[in-house]
Amino acid sequence: MKTVNVGLLGLGTVGGGTATVLSRNAEEISRRIGCEIKITHAAAKEIEHASDLGLGDIKLSTDAANVIGDESIDIIVELIGGYEPARTFVLQAIENGKHVVTANKALIAKHGNEIFEAAEKKGVSVCYEAAVAGGIPIIKAMRESLAANKVNWLAGIINGTGNFILTEMRDKGRDFADVLKEAQQLGYAEADPTFDVEGIDAAHKLAILASLAFGMPLSFDKVFTEGITKITSEDVVYANELGYRIKHLGLAVRTDDGIEMRVHPTLIPEGRLIANVDGVMNAVLVECDALGPSLYYGAGAGAEPTASAVVADITDLARAIVSDTKYAIPHLSFQADAIQEQKILAIDEIETAYYIRLNADDEAGVMAEISGILAENQISIDAIVQNPPVDDSGNIPIVILTHRVKEKKMNDALEQIKALEHVEDDLLRIRVESLG
Ligand code: HSE
Repeated sequence: MKTVNVGLLGLGTVGGGTATVLSRNAEEISRRIGCEIKITHAAAKEIEHASDLGLGDIKLSTDAANVIGDESIDIIVELIGGYEPARTFVLQAIENGKHVVTANKALIAKHGNEIFEAAEKKGVSVCYEAAVAGGIPIIKAMRESLAANKVNWLAGIINGTGNFILTEMRDKGRDFADVLKEAQQLGYAEADPTFDVEGIDAAHKLAILASLAFGMPLSFDKVFTEGITKITSEDVVYANELGYRIKHLGLAVRTDDGIEMRVHPTLIPEGRLIANVDGVMNAVLVECDALGPSLYYGAGAGAEPTASAVVADITDLARAIVSDTKYAIPHLSFQADAIQEQKILAIDEIETAYYIRLNADDEAGVMAEISGILAENQISIDAIVQNPPVDDSGNIPIVILTHRVKEKKMNDALEQIKALEHVEDDLLRIRVESLG
């Protein structure tokens, strides 16, 4: 039986998971693909504990260049994460004629255009299933299984750490910082956890999904990004009372005016399947013209779920290598020469519904002033609730749900409301999506 040799860059959580899955399921995988896969060489900053990973008798190095330059290696698996030195290593591996597998969403979102161009010139492939939604095979679904369709929009819970935090806040009333610490201990969070809670990690993944959906270059810098740090446990309760769940959602929408790409906390009707995706689980809802809606659900982080996707990429490449054929799936789903720039809408050009929570003095006429401003800006109210005070400040929280309106109009109205004498100016806006 032929052997495909793999070189591993990075021996952290996912590196360890990849070694474990490849070794535990070696026989099953060989029966599926008709060859053996062997990790023969690995590099990491610290290699003292590498023997704990069950890698067997392989070459170990603290210098990635040794693995990238190893002539016997067919596939380089990059599991270092971050922009650099991952970009340099991947470009060098491509230059050396190696196929690459990576779980690095930051790398693909920011440098994918450059990396794919280099790979296409060299006739090698870069696979990145694990970069979006951990173990869920969403890249394969979008590039292959949905190839007959025109994608209208997609919406995803694509950061496990953020979803874990929001779920624990809702179910157990736990404190934000306390849940984040647990997510870090469980190996879900990024090296810099602000990437999780400020939506940057989700924006990396959304940029990738949007390019696969609409055949456009990766445009991470144009994703509107808002984090979950301003969501309070009161908001979670108010949303529940109104029949919604708050999720940190990534949305890519094709409209007549252009493409929307946005990551922000979102109220979703509680009856939607995606509203019930809890804990570290991820889900991506894709709405296409032929299939209609389809939902992809699974573990979005963690050693073995992510390794499941990494190893699936290795098996795809190994099948092509041993059969001497080209791995023919285009990097961004569309042929490289068919990728087209598209107009991406600024956030004030998008249209959505809104949840507004503000604190106001308990005075006659305040509600009338607020609703008057909304009416002047042609914003139609769906529901309005005055809640009991949460402290002794004399303020009362008011929650307003609106119908859909252009964000620009909502911005104008919120500025006017904030200027009212009896309203505090730290009001919160959460966008609402029906996902129908
Ligand atoms: N920090 C990421 C998450 C890991 O929580 O989803 C998987 O990409």
